[in-house]
Amino acid sequence: MSYPKSTREYRSNDVKGWKVGDRVSPNFSLDHLDGDTNPDIFVTSLGAPIDGVLREYIKVPAHSLVRIPEHLSYEEGSTLPCAALTAYNALHGPKPLKGGDTVLILGTGGVSIFGLQFAVASGAEVIVTSSSDEKLKVARQLGAHHTINYKTTPDWDKEVLKITGGRGVDHTIEVGGPGTIQKSGNATRMAGYLHIIGFVASGDNSITIPAVVHKAHIYRGILIGSVAQFESMNRLIKAQKIKPVVDKVFPFEQTIQAYSYLESQQHVGKVVIRVSKD
Ligand SMILES: NC(=O)c1ccc[n+]([C@@H]2O[C@H](COP(=O)([O-])OP(=O)(O)OC[C@H]3O[C@@H](n4cnc5c(N)ncnc54)[C@H](OP(=O)(O)O)[C@@H]3O)[C@@H](O)[C@H]2O)c1
Repeated sequence: MSYPKSTREYRSNDVKGWKVGDRVSPNFSLDHLDGDTNPDIFVTSLGAPIDGVLREYIKVPAHSLVRIPEHLSYEEGSTLPCAALTAYNALHGPKPLKGGDTVLILGTGGVSIFGLQFAVASGAEVIVTSSSDEKLKVARQLGAHHTINYKTTPDWDKEVLKITGGRGVDHTIEVGGPGTIQKSGNATRMAGYLHIIGFVASGDNSITIPAVVHKAHIYRGILIGSVAQFESMNRLIKAQKIKPVVDKVFPFEQTIQAYSYLESQQHVGKVVIRVSKD
């Protein structure tokens, strides 16, 4: 869920580097400027644990601000600080993906669709799974090279191995958690990366230590990203003219319906609540 903001809220022109009317977004973790996160940074996260952005006015430190790419609307820009930055941190973190790498994307929600778009924009070969053939059609329109319906193909890990000639993928965007982690491990190549992001799929498929060791897998927990990564990501978005996929925009008055819609999992990409009236 994302909430657009603009600098119309600014009361002064005294903030170095910024002027009234600039189109900006705060980073999700206000004090995460660069490098690793830490407990002091974590407590500056918007919405968790400090108040978030479902409001008209907000005061944030200037160091947390990032310019919204010009080709994006406020609604599109509002999708960047959480879902997009998380996917970018995964794929362009310490071991950035290279052109020609294979990437497995689980599902078609906010993080996953950004993962697909960034992977395609970076020259990777992308495999997307989803519960819906309709959603997989959208994934193919966005550049997915291979798609698998995980409902009709419950052994989707074997299908990924087939697609990759038995090798497995280089990177997996893991949003399923307990319900998918074991199969994600099966589908990832020896010494490949599993980017651990979420836990939308229930189950009890814990990973075993021998499975990790014998495949020399690298599991990396992702916690959003830094201002520096946000700026790098926006350069990629600008250069490749990437448009965030906004499934539906709800007015502020329909916030509860917006959350229900998100929970119903009908969406592809992002669901946005528009706070501002103009
Ligand atoms: N670590 C972080 O920094 C960070 C940041 C943002 C979000 N998250 C977490 O990441 C997860 C995803 O967030 P989101 O915003 O992308 O959520 P979302 O928009 O609600 O998308 C969730 C998607 O997960 C897919 N899914 C559900 N069960 C699945 C399964 N068994 N196998 C494969 N895919 C499955 C569904 O895709 P289909 O409908 O196509 O089947 C669904 O649309 C959440 O747990 C969220 O809390 C973490």
